[in-house]
Amino acid sequence: MATERTLSIIKPDATKRNLTGKINAKFEDAGLRIVAQKRIQLTQDQAGQFYAVHKERPFFGELTEFMASGPVVVQVLEGEGAIAKNREVMGATNPADAAPGTIRAEFAESVGENSVHGSDAPETAKEEISFFFSGLELVG
Ligand code: RTP
Ligand code: MG
Repeated sequence: MATERTLSIIKPDATKRNLTGKINAKFEDAGLRIVAQKRIQLTQDQAGQFYAVHKERPFFGELTEFMASGPVVVQVLEGEGAIAKNREVMGATNPADAAPGTIRAEFAESVGENSVHGSDAPETAKEEISFFFSGLELVG
């Protein structure tokens, strides 16, 4: 398995509850290295650009409003098979289905307000990393 990078977002429900450190500990304990990180506030328009793939879904308005409702921490995680490993650590989208010990099982409030985002494939990881970070910001 090759070393990969993936884009992670700690969502507003989690930053609001002061969970950034606890969530980062889950990533680091799983062997994922946080190689870039910043706390930002998205506009609803920027959240819509990021989640454009979901723009026809019934939850799009709710999702973009939520993502713009408070600060988010955007980060690049690096490690062996980082894309799949991160999704394993995150757990299922709906916290009711998330395996015990996963971030969503422990911290998510609902299927919408589910604490974290993670890229789902190598191409989306590349696009999503460059949406938020320049090459100069990726220090390894
Ligand atoms: P993400 O993209 O945030 O990492 O989450 P995911 O792959 O597990 O889930 P995805 O299907 O890509 O959905 C993106 C985000 O939209 C919100 N959502 N709300 N109300 C609903 O039924 C619903 N379904 C999805 C969640 O915030 C989900 O993470
Ligand atoms: Mg997704």
